[in-house]
This record gives sequence, C-alpha cells and structure tokens, in this order.
Amino acid sequence: MTTTVPTHVQQQPRRVRPRHYLMCPPTWFDVTYAINPWMDPRLPVDRERAYAQWSALVAAYRAAGHRVDLLDPVPGLPDMVFAANGATVVDGRTLGARFATSQRAAEAVAHRAWHARFGVLYGGRALADPVAVNEAEGDFAVLSSVVLAGYGFRTNLAAHAELAALTGREVLSLELVDPRFYHLDVALAVLDSDTDQVAYYPPAFSARSQAVLADRFPDAVLADDADAYAFGLNAVGDGRNVFLPVGAGHLRDALEARGYVCVEIDTSELLLGGGSVKCCTQEIRPARSEEGDPR
Ligand code: ARG
Repeated sequence: MTTTVPTHVQQQPRRVRPRHYLMCPPTWFDVTYAINPWMDPRLPVDRERAYAQWSALVAAYRAAGHRVDLLDPVPGLPDMVFAANGATVVDGRTLGARFATSQRAAEAVAHRAWHARFGVLYGGRALADPVAVNEAEGDFAVLSSVVLAGYGFRTNLAAHAELAALTGREVLSLELVDPRFYHLDVALAVLDSDTDQVAYYPPAFSARSQAVLADRFPDAVLADDADAYAFGLNAVGDGRNVFLPVGAGHLRDALEARGYVCVEIDTSELLLGGGSVKCCTQEIRPARSEEGDPR
C-alpha cells in the first residue's frame, strides 16, 4: 500500500523530548477474568515471556533516553502491568483513576499511594481523588493544545469535566463505539504531544467523533483494520520514536514515511490481557516551566 504524505508533514525534523514513565512489572500478570473481548481465561499465559517482553519495552525506553520508574506489583491484581490506567498526570497535577470494573479497583489505591509519596520527584502540585469513573490514560490522550478523552465503555463523560477542571486544559470528548476498542488508547496514538500529531482508526469512533477528529487533525495518520487489530495504535510516541507492537506494518510504513523511527516490540503475551505498549506506560508530565516553580 502506498502512502501519500503531505510535504509539510514529511519534512518536519523529528525531535525527542525526554519523558518520564511509570510502569509496573507483570510479576502477577494473568488472565483470570474477561473484562474486554480480547481476554479469554481459558488460554494459558506465559508469565516469564510476558516479563521478558515487558522488560524489552523498558529497555527500549531507557535506550531512547527516557526515565522509567517502577510501581510495585501487587499479588492478586493481574492487570496491574497496564499502568496507563492508574492515573493521569498533566502539568504536575494528578487525577487518580476510578476503575469501571471491581476486578481492577484496588489498582487505583496503589497508584494513588505512589503519586502521594513520589509526586515530589516530579514537582507534583495536586493529587485529586476522582468522583466519576475514569481509567486514566487508557481514555485520556494528552496533547499540547487539548486533551482527547474517550467515553463509551470505561471512562464516564463526567470524568472529562473533572480532568478539565483540575488541569485547566480543553478536554475534547470522543465517543468509542466498538467494544474491541474499549479504550481510547487502542484506537488513537499520540505520536508527538508537542506538535499534536496523532494516528487513529476511524471505525472505532462514532460518526460524529470521526468528523471532529478529521476536522481537528487533518494530517493524522489513519490506521487500517490490520493495524488496529494488531493493537498498532496502542503506541507511545516521543516526538521522534514511536514504540509500537509488531504486526502493524501499514501503520509502521506510514510513520516511517513521515520521518518517525519505529521501535517494534513483541507484546504477544500482554495482548492476552487486551493491552500492549501504551497500556503498560503511564506518562508523568511535570509542570510546564513557564508556569513557574511548583510549590
Ligand atoms: N485487561 C485490561 C482491562 O481490560 C487491559 C487494559 C489495557 N489498558 C489500556 N490502557 N488500554 O482493563
């Protein structure tokens, strides 16, 4: 498949900005319940393999110059490796998660404790307990001009307003309509949060939200079915590198045509839980320097 790339998009220099990520080892990873269509508790999970795959992702981030902090895994919480769902940090202001399902509820407690203790490391300025259900970066994609927010399966619309109130950012609500793409981060990837470049899979969104995306992001990379089903949009972009699962060949080629460096990670075991690269990665976004020193 050939990809036509507008020249103004193609010729941009791609610059990495060092990031700070929070991740949780898959020490207790398992599929013991099914809360999304990808999970089948009858299939065996190879935890050692999951650990090796997750470790390769951590190593890739560190090799690219990013800082990775680790959250202690808790026995009995088999989805805790999916750290993106635990909290959302924007400008040093943190909104804790409130999970939609009882099976994951206790993860929010572990994340809250980590942010309460270590927020000082990133100039944390506020730590808010959520009122409405929100699964954090599973449904919040933070760009420089706007936060994109998914709803329809997990995160409640009321949580979009909570994040807007906490951060003062515009929050743009997008409706997810396909249960296989139950979180925003399996339907849309942030390639560069400084220049607001994204990739997404249109059929995951309602017609109205597709129109909003087309209008706001005319230069977006569009993923095809095979990309989306390979979890290709569950990717992490740092402005230059895009860390993404193997198997999203069309998306990878489209990104490379725009000058991104694709770092492919095999996440086959984690996919048994319905998650991949981005699901494993919570980004800690410190206060912007122009806002002055945090308290
Ligand atoms: N099994 C987890 C769940 O269904 C997977 C979460 C994936 N995380 C994500 N950010 N999409 O909740």
